Amino acid sequence: MAASADTTTTTPSYTLTGKIALVTGGGSGIGRACCQVLAREGARLVVADINLQAAKHTLTLLPVGQQHVAVAVDVRDRRSVEAAMKAAQDQCGAPPSLLVNCAGVTNLAPFLETDDDAWQKIIDVNLTGIFLVTQAFVRSLLENGKDAKGAIVNIASIVGKTGCPLMCGYSASKGGVISLTKTCAAELASKAIRVNCVLPAVIDTPMGAMVPEETHELFKRLAPLGRLGRPEEVAEVVTFLLSERSSYMVGACVEVTGGYGM
Ligand SMILES: NC(=O)c1ccc[n+]([C@@H]2O[C@H](COP(=O)([O-])OP(=O)(O)OC[C@H]3O[C@@H](n4cnc5c(N)ncnc54)[C@H](O)[C@@H]3O)[C@@H](O)[C@H]2O)c1
Repeated sequence: MAASADTTTTTPSYTLTGKIALVTGGGSGIGRACCQVLAREGARLVVADINLQAAKHTLTLLPVGQQHVAVAVDVRDRRSVEAAMKAAQDQCGAPPSLLVNCAGVTNLAPFLETDDDAWQKIIDVNLTGIFLVTQAFVRSLLENGKDAKGAIVNIASIVGKTGCPLMCGYSASKGGVISLTKTCAAELASKAIRVNCVLPAVIDTPMGAMVPEETHELFKRLAPLGRLGRPEEVAEVVTFLLSERSSYMVGACVEVTGGYGM
């Protein structure tokens, strides 16, 4: 058998310096924490959000040294997504090669009381949004990137695997994200673009605060760690999945749940 390379002496560069990373939903919660951790690791950030003011506020929280930019995007709308991707490329001088699909919404209602509009809005943002942004990102990277190597992390949810009372649209959208992640991962690996997703449980963000207190208590009771997660705890995993540290991970669904739902 051929001797394998000594990885202790041939370790690739793990820094994100020189990489451009686009984070949707970067104006709040987990997306904002992803921007902060990715910038700490050297990436130049494109903070993309439907709320441009919030995206601009994220810029003020990033370490100085890189010229980070904020762009407005509505991930539900193809034209808005393509315009945001073009703005990112124009302002950074190259297309992003790292993507975090984090924009998301939720809605709590019993299954029988969920109306068409509430259902459709969740599917449009959480699932169609990832379809549209990923297509635009991959096209721009393959057409314009000098080094077309890329990585994508989708923010799904543990309820995409387990389901959850009062969250039929949300859970279904996240189940769709898990499935879409695996299909994109299988198709894009040959183009040197790795796709993975993370499945958080309840995380302490504005969206997490919409979950009723009794549900918080239930998640805490069922999680061996006995507490909710912090946005930066998700962001560290996302950053790992975007970096060359995870170079052999494709189509993985990494649970960040304190042990809930394992
Ligand atoms: N917080 C949790 O408990 C939790 C758990 C599992 C998964 N998640 C997922 O993590 C992601 C981030 O959630 P969060 O808790 O940080 O929520 P958040 O509400 O704090 O942030 C969501 C961000 O998405 C943006 N956004 C909403 N609709 C958009 C659109 N159409 N186009 C562009 N941007 C849009 C919002 O403006 C906001 O900045 C979501 O996909 C969510 O489903 C959250």
